[in-house]
Amino acid sequence: ADPDPLQDFCVADLSASTSVNGFLCKPASNVSSDDFFFDGLSKEGNTSNIFGSTVTAANVLSFPGLNTLGSSINRVDFAIGGVNPPHSHPRSTETDLVISGQVLVGFVTTGNVYFSKVLTAGEIFVIPRGLVHFQKNVGPGKALIFTTFNSQLPGAAVVPLNLFASTPSIPNDVLTKTFQVGDDVVNSIKSKFGS
Ligand code: GLV
Ligand code: MN
Repeated sequence: ADPDPLQDFCVADLSASTSVNGFLCKPASNVSSDDFFFDGLSKEGNTSNIFGSTVTAANVLSFPGLNTLGSSINRVDFAIGGVNPPHSHPRSTETDLVISGQVLVGFVTTGNVYFSKVLTAGEIFVIPRGLVHFQKNVGPGKALIFTTFNSQLPGAAVVPLNLFASTPSIPNDVLTKTFQVGDDVVNSIKSKFGS
């Protein structure tokens, strides 16, 4: 979903004080093989958090060689019962590949139709661009998936954090009216996310 490149590569200079729609290129004379290499997805992520999952991202910010190439990949680790909570990527379609474990992957369309599947190793599921989706570990042990994107920086709007952990926060009367619950419920949810 990113614009087409206008040269072979444009390794991002993340330190440049100005940027365009993406990042400026570091001089080609300073580019080496290491600029196209990233080992940040080789280690298991720490899943000790309320969701029992963690996303490790290889996007243009962590792997500047991806700049202008319209591609990125995440590693997502799951503890037993862990969930990667509902979220959407404004700039990318996502393809999920299960490496190990049993993972429920689901998305909901703009018409509120829910599609889902339980996947095991080697199986994939595609999430159309911009749609709200999640994964949950439904197997007896840990689970590991890789998620690939047709954007160097897909962005992630995480629904529970958007609604209940924004800065500043969304006024309670908006959330109580939206969800048809009282302040106690809204405050309880907000407190779970540290706000
Ligand atoms: C999973 O949904 C991810 O965005 O990596
Ligand atoms: Mn996603």
